[in-house]
Amino acid sequence: MSPLWIGTSWKMTKTLAEGRVWAEGLRDHLASEHGGQAPSGVQPFVIPSFTATTAVRGVLGEDSPVLLGVQNAHWEDEGAWTGEVSVPQARDAGAQVVEIGHSERREHFGETVKTTRLKVAAALRHGLTPLLCIGESAEVKDAGGSSAFILEQAAGALEGLSAEELARVVIAYEPIWAIGEKGRPATVEELVEPFAALGEQYSGRVMGLLYGGSVNLDNAAELLGIEHVAGLFVGRTAWKLEGYLELLRIAEAHAAS
Ligand code: PGA
Repeated sequence: MSPLWIGTSWKMTKTLAEGRVWAEGLRDHLASEHGGQAPSGVQPFVIPSFTATTAVRGVLGEDSPVLLGVQNAHWEDEGAWTGEVSVPQARDAGAQVVEIGHSERREHFGETVKTTRLKVAAALRHGLTPLLCIGESAEVKDAGGSSAFILEQAAGALEGLSAEELARVVIAYEPIWAIGEKGRPATVEELVEPFAALGEQYSGRVMGLLYGGSVNLDNAAELLGIEHVAGLFVGRTAWKLEGYLELLRIAEAHAAS
């Protein structure tokens, strides 16, 4: 079985000092509890702010089993794009993963299906793993359109990829109504159908299908039990290192079961 991807985006939180403390704690935990390896059956990943990328890489070290990501990257390699960061720059700073299309970027920063497609291609072109986020609003869900909506978002972003390229993509399903302070945790029943739809289309063809949105220490195990869920993408619960370490333990136990 492929490892369960368990990771966090810090979104726009943490100073450099706070980020270093979190990363040092994770590094030291893996060293003392897992001989410097990832927990068995688990692929940890962390996605700090751009400003903390090199610092976190420095703390984790070059050979860390923890994958490091950025929360966004531009589709062009370089040029006159004030305020943007390119995939080669992200790679240069130590990143291996590029988060693409998070709903907060779609809502506030003009991310579209077209830009997600360009960004997926850019990440693949430079050997980084695209972590494509998809998810529907409460209105779409209430109208019964969740599965069709997320399949369309995914298909639009992944259009034209070869089987080999698709196999390097990770998809995170993150319903907007379940994300963040204003969200509410999804029930297992609500997620079965969207994951069945995603699984039918992408299971065995992409590197992994993750769930994200109000994941916490009480629901993580049951979320991992949903068919086709191969990992968790977590915000608030993992911002405190203790929460993240507990999620790693839950995932390791799940992988062993
Ligand atoms: P949350 O964030 O876990 O704080 O709900 C999830 C996400 O946006 O990925």
